[in-house]
Amino acid sequence: LKTKIIGVPLNFGANRCGLEFSVENFIDRYPKYRDKIEVLGVEKQLEDFSTKGAKYLNTVAKTCEELAVNVNKIIKDGDFPISLGGDHAIAIGSIAGVAKEKEIGILWMDAHGDMNTPEISDSGHIHGMPLAASVGHGHSKLIDCFYNGAKVKKENVILFGTRDIDEKEQKLIDELGIKNYTWEMIAEMGFEKALGEVKEFFKDKNLHISFDLDGIDPAEITAVGTPVPGGLSREMGKTLVSEMIDTASVTSIDIVEYNPIYEKGAETSEYVDELLQLIEKKIN
Ligand code: ARG
Ligand code: MN
Ligand code: MN
Ligand code: MN
Repeated sequence: LKTKIIGVPLNFGANRCGLEFSVENFIDRYPKYRDKIEVLGVEKQLEDFSTKGAKYLNTVAKTCEELAVNVNKIIKDGDFPISLGGDHAIAIGSIAGVAKEKEIGILWMDAHGDMNTPEISDSGHIHGMPLAASVGHGHSKLIDCFYNGAKVKKENVILFGTRDIDEKEQKLIDELGIKNYTWEMIAEMGFEKALGEVKEFFKDKNLHISFDLDGIDPAEITAVGTPVPGGLSREMGKTLVSEMIDTASVTSIDIVEYNPIYEKGAETSEYVDELLQLIEKKIN
């Protein structure tokens, strides 16, 4: 297996400035990645602004479609795609690209649930909807990315580190019975025990890890647009990725929501570099 990094500087899913600079900014800081990251351009599409509840739907859907094609090719070549964002909406595409070839579970490490749909979202931001779309809920243009229908069974999903879930989003999570290790639960039971349970669940299964940087404690990571107090330490985040690769059959990873305009120093880009090095060392 060889890691292949695709940079996707999407910001329309978050409707927020800064994420469009994510990939270029990261490469400028770490020129060693210049030849290693294939950057996917984000092409603005004509939008129908009367579409309620899903802002920049066409642009997000088009970007995800293109990412899915690229990720799918990497999987078919027997390699390991890493999608570097850009906002979390890109996971709709990365998951679709893998799920076409393999039955996968998803480990969603995030402060948020990302289980909104256009009907229930307060913000209309699609980066709050990618997990819902992947399990078959939400706008058909998102659900049907790359090929029609849900990509992952709701039983095969675990949310990890959550501490900011909207009310109606929580209702949907409960209705679908999505497993949710909130940060509160993890802190109470201890990270090691929570990790042990997640490892046991995904043991020997194909697994896609979607790693939202805002899942890490904002005291240790500044470059995210929607920080929420609490969360995993940097070290826990790395342990999670490393031990899941040892335990499950990890097929693919997203690292998302890197927004350089909020970065206080260089600690977040450093962390992304550390994560990429760790993954490359374990996979290659
Ligand atoms: N729940 C909020 C929303 O729907 C925040 C989502 C944040 N998502 C993220 N990937 N950072 O807008
Ligand atoms: Mn938002
Ligand atoms: Mn997210
Ligand atoms: Mn988040």
